[in-house]
Amino acid sequence: MSKDIIAIWAEDKNHLIGHKDSLPWRLPKELKHFKETTMGQVLLMGRVTFEGMNRRVLPGRQTIVLTRDKDYQAEGVIVLHSKEEVLEWFENQDKTLFIVGGARIYQSFLPVSNKLLKTEVDGVFEGDTYFPDYPEADFELVSEKIFEKDEKNAYNFTVKELIRKVA
Ligand SMILES: NC(=O)c1ccc[n+]([C@@H]2O[C@H](COP(=O)([O-])OP(=O)(O)OC[C@H]3O[C@@H](n4cnc5c(N)ncnc54)[C@H](OP(=O)(O)O)[C@@H]3O)[C@@H](O)[C@H]2O)c1
Repeated sequence: MSKDIIAIWAEDKNHLIGHKDSLPWRLPKELKHFKETTMGQVLLMGRVTFEGMNRRVLPGRQTIVLTRDKDYQAEGVIVLHSKEEVLEWFENQDKTLFIVGGARIYQSFLPVSNKLLKTEVDGVFEGDTYFPDYPEADFELVSEKIFEKDEKNAYNFTVKELIRKVA
């Protein structure tokens, strides 16, 4: 049985995803959604995103950090050096692989992702990193859930689940 590879991200109305190696917004409810969705599974992130989190390892999830630097070392994560190495490593796992960014990691792994979990933040922010273009017609919307803003979350957002259409 094939296992899920799921790209998960949050973007603003202009597909912005990052600002100065961090997130452009503060939305605790969105982080809660991320945590609940990915708990117990495997996260793949780029070295820049990992450093942007000050190398904080997210609890309850195995993290893989991708870098071309063969000498790179970090506590509490698995360091791999190519897409092929990641896919080979994943062969022997029975968990879901979540592609958690940033832009360069999404770019590389969207072609092998069978599902997308996209959060659309209802706002326009300042930043420097955008979600890459991808063949949106290859995916079909299967569900969407709206989260309303509140005193701790200044923006509405919608979580959309899309699955790859069968060729
Ligand atoms: N909104 C969201 O959902 C979301 C999610 C995640 C991240 N982000 C944001 O995205 C931004 C970072 O994105 P980014 O594109 O600059 O960086 P990134 O994708 O996090 O990391 C890029 C780095 O990953 C390594 N890498 C990438 N492809 C590789 C490959 N095929 N083989 C080996 N190593 C590879 C390289 O590391 P080396 O340079 O060490 O070789 C590269 O410099 C930050 O602002 C972050 O907050 C947003």
